[in-house]
Amino acid sequence: MIKILPSLVFLIGYLQPGAQIMSSPHLEKKGNAIQLIVQGKPFLVRGGELHNSSTSTAEYMRGIWKKMADKNLNTVITAVYWEMVEPIEGKFNFVLVDSMLAGARQQNLHLVLLWFGSWKNGYSTYPPTWVKKDFVKYPRAKDKNGKSFQMLSTFGESSAKADAAAFGALMQHIKEVDEHQQTVIAAQVENEMGLFGSPRDYTDAASKAFAAPVPGDLMKYLSTHKNDIQPEIDSAWKANGYKTSGSWEDVFGKSVFDKTNWKALSYLPEELFTVYHYAKYVGTVAAEGKKAYAIPMYVNAWIKQDIFGYPGRYPSGGPIPHTMDVWRAVAPALDFIAPDIYIKDALYTILQYRRKGNPVFIPEFRPGLQSASEALWAYGEAEAICFSPFGIDDIEAADDPITKTYAGIAQMQNLILQQHGRGTMHGIYMDTISKGQEFDLGGYRVTAQKTGGISTFAGFTIGSKSSPFAGGIVINSGKDEFVVIGKDFSLSFTPLQMDDSTLDVEYLEEGHFVNDQWVMTRKLNGDEGTGGGDYGFGFGNPRKAALRFPVSPTGDYTIVKMKIYKYK
Ligand code: DGJ
Repeated sequence: MIKILPSLVFLIGYLQPGAQIMSSPHLEKKGNAIQLIVQGKPFLVRGGELHNSSTSTAEYMRGIWKKMADKNLNTVITAVYWEMVEPIEGKFNFVLVDSMLAGARQQNLHLVLLWFGSWKNGYSTYPPTWVKKDFVKYPRAKDKNGKSFQMLSTFGESSAKADAAAFGALMQHIKEVDEHQQTVIAAQVENEMGLFGSPRDYTDAASKAFAAPVPGDLMKYLSTHKNDIQPEIDSAWKANGYKTSGSWEDVFGKSVFDKTNWKALSYLPEELFTVYHYAKYVGTVAAEGKKAYAIPMYVNAWIKQDIFGYPGRYPSGGPIPHTMDVWRAVAPALDFIAPDIYIKDALYTILQYRRKGNPVFIPEFRPGLQSASEALWAYGEAEAICFSPFGIDDIEAADDPITKTYAGIAQMQNLILQQHGRGTMHGIYMDTISKGQEFDLGGYRVTAQKTGGISTFAGFTIGSKSSPFAGGIVINSGKDEFVVIGKDFSLSFTPLQMDDSTLDVEYLEEGHFVNDQWVMTRKLNGDEGTGGGDYGFGFGNPRKAALRFPVSPTGDYTIVKMKIYKYK
C-alpha cells in the first residue's frame, strides 16, 4: 500500500512533546443510555451534514468551515470518497482528507466522516473506475431477469476486500494524524446501502445462498439473544415455532407483499437474507477500519416510510430497526444503526431507532424551521447524541433557524448530558396540529401549551412573531426545581400528589449558562413572573405553578430556572 505522507502540519500536531494520548472517541453506557465520549468527556453532537460533493475540493470548502461555526455547530458530517482516496488501485491519497481536518480544526469543529465506498443511496457511484469497470472481478447485483443493477453485489468477495482495504487505509491515516486531537469522532460506513428494485439479489451466488439454510452464525445469535431481539423478528420467528434451522422462509415465514400497509413487513425472508449479506460485507469493511482506529462506527438508513414502504422500494438490506439483530449478529464492528429522516412525522421514526443498546444518532434530518424545534425534542426526549440537518452548507447562519437552536443547546449541553439515562428530562415539540403536550416530571404533571410567540399585555395582543412550531427541553434539576429552554410555549406544573396546597414560585430567573455556570440576566417577577397559577394577579389556578416564556423579539431561545413551593 503506497500512501501520501501526512502533511507537515499534522506531523507537528502528532509529535507534540510529552502529549498524553487519551482514549480515542468511543461509546459508553450511562444507565440505560449510551453516550459518545470525546477527549475523555461525554459529547453532544450539534451537527450538520454537508452536501454530497462539497468536500470534493478544498477550494469549495474554503469559506464553508466558518459558516459551520457561525451556525453554532460543533461537528460537521462530511463525505470521504473511495474514488478520490484510491483513484489507482493500491495508491491512497489523503490530501483532501487532511484539508478537511485543517478546515475543521481552524474553526474548532469536529468531524464525522462518511465513507462513500461501495454504496451511496443504494447505488455504486463512488467506487473508483478500476472497480466500476471490472464487472467480472467486481460483480453487480442482478434482478430476477438476470439484468445487472448499478449496484455492486454483496456476493463480490473482491469488492468487499477492496473496499475494506481502502477504508482501513483511511482509518489508519486518521489514527496517525488525529489520534491526539480527535477532530474525527466517528465514521459512517457506506451510505444508505441496500438494493433498489428487488428485495434480494438474483445473481447465481445469491440465489444459491437464498435456497440454503439460514446461516448458523445468525441462528446462533438469535438463539443466544432470544429475550433481547427486536419484537418484529421475535413475532415472525415465534410464528414459525422458533425454528433454529431451515430456509429463510422456514424460519421467518412465507414471503408476503402487503401493499395496503407500509408498516407491514413485506418480503421479510428476502429482506433479512439481503440484510445478512450487506451486514457481512459492510461488517468486513468496518472491521478493517476498527482494526486500524477503533472509533465509533455506524450505518445509516434510507428509512421505511409511507411512500417507500417495502424492501426494494426502500433500499432492501439497509439498517431498518426491525433488522437490527442481523446487523448485531454479523457486523460486530458496527456500533449502532442510524436514520436519515426526511419525513414529516419525524418523532415516530426517531423513537423507532431508540431501542435497547442503540443510541439515537441522527446523521441526516430535513433542514428548516420545523426541524429547529424538533431538534430540542430529539435531544430532550429521545436523548439524541447527534442531530444533524442535511445540506447544512446551503443557507447563511443568520437565515438558518438551527443557528439559534444550537446556540441554546451549546449552553446546556453538559446539563443535558448529565440527565441521560436518569429520567429527569423531557423534550417539547408542538406545532399547529399538536398544540399541547403532557408528561410527568419531578413529581408534577407538566402540561405544555403552544403560544406561538404572541406577546400580550393585560390580555391585549401587542405583537406576534407567530411561529408554527415550538420546541424546548424541561429538566428536573432538583426537588421542585426545573431548568427549561424554549420559546413560544407555556408550561403548567400540577403536583401528582394533589392536596389543597397553593403553589407559588420561589424564584424564576432568566439567564444563560457560561461554561456551565448560571448567569442570571433577569429575575422574573411581577408582570414577567408567573406567580403560582395566578400569574401574580389572582387569576388562574392556584393549585398549579405556571411558566410562560416572554416573546423573543430576536427569535432566540430563553433559558429559565425556577423553583416551586407550596403553602396551605
Ligand atoms: C439521503 C442521502 O444519504 C444523502 O446523501 C442525500 O442524497 C440526501 N438523501 C438528499 O436528500
